Amino acid sequence: EKANVAIVGATGAVGVTIREILEERQFPVENLYLLASERSAGERLMFNGKSVMVQNLEDFDFSQADVALFSAGGSISREYAPKAVAAGCVVVDNTSEFRYEDDIPLVVTEVNPDRIADYKNRGIIANPNCSTMQLLVALKPIQDAVGIEHINVCTYQAVSGSGQKAIEELAKQTAELLNAKDPSIEVYDKQIAFNVLPNIDVIQENGYTKEEMKMVWETKKIFEDDSIEVSPTAVRVPVFYGHSEAVHLKTRAPLASVQAKELLERAEGVTVIDNMDNLEYATAVTDASGKDDVFVSRIREDVGMENGLAMWIVSDNVRKGAALNTVQIAEILVKNHL
Ligand code: A2P
Repeated sequence: EKANVAIVGATGAVGVTIREILEERQFPVENLYLLASERSAGERLMFNGKSVMVQNLEDFDFSQADVALFSAGGSISREYAPKAVAAGCVVVDNTSEFRYEDDIPLVVTEVNPDRIADYKNRGIIANPNCSTMQLLVALKPIQDAVGIEHINVCTYQAVSGSGQKAIEELAKQTAELLNAKDPSIEVYDKQIAFNVLPNIDVIQENGYTKEEMKMVWETKKIFEDDSIEVSPTAVRVPVFYGHSEAVHLKTRAPLASVQAKELLERAEGVTVIDNMDNLEYATAVTDASGKDDVFVSRIREDVGMENGLAMWIVSDNVRKGAALNTVQIAEILVKNHL
């Protein structure tokens, strides 16, 4: 069975990767519709050896599509996802717009694929935040084996998570600074080149940023466990592709690091690279970038607490963190439900 697929935000950092992944995985596409703003309408992009014209989202008739993959920002999803659903299309939404609504499933394909069936509620499936995604792919086997009580996570997030303009800003500022010029500030509120910014998305009343709270809310929802507590700090770093996370967790029962490592080695979507004696560990740029798996390194018993485990988790934020999981959801949807 082939499906008619629309990509909303087809010219953006995630939309471009969605198109590449559809092609790579030979997704059963009947017709592909590439949608973006008026600015890009008329541009042509390649898909499966054919050139496809980008259309203005405003003028698109969603009854032509069976599935629409949205990555054009929250306000676009708010306005157009319900229109797409009304036209008979199923939406996989990559923004945070619908993630916290009880009747909208929030799916990581290695963790809770069964929830995809709940697309029937509202016609929408939400794709989690990139930082939550890689965290839960790696922690799922540990949650299943012994249960997790508390997660302490610090992130080191690439600029590609903020979209194409942010990728350009890091490149531009780097060149400017190396040429002794003042860095131009547009996307981020402070210089990102040669710097780290503890401010992602907007600040909340409790003093945490929204990016941090996404990890709290989404972990509970996806694991279907309100008792898991998460203490996050989310930080933007001058890396183009690939998020890193330093994670410390308290499990509900003891789990030796060797056992944790064995569980992770068998887990779907996870690659363990962990032999520090041989300097074997994964980094965002040299290992994760361009790959599908989540990479886990430095698995060890926490030196500061009982039933504690620590590890380093890296993943390509644009692929598993966004585009890949979106396509994986759509694959299951088309295969089992449509
Ligand atoms: P466009 O390239 O025409 O501006 P990114 O996350 O990399 O910033 O990409 C955002 C994506 O969302 C782009 O494809 C962009 O298209 C699209 N987009 C932004 N605003 C709109 C809009 N008002 N209508 C349709 N698409 C939009």
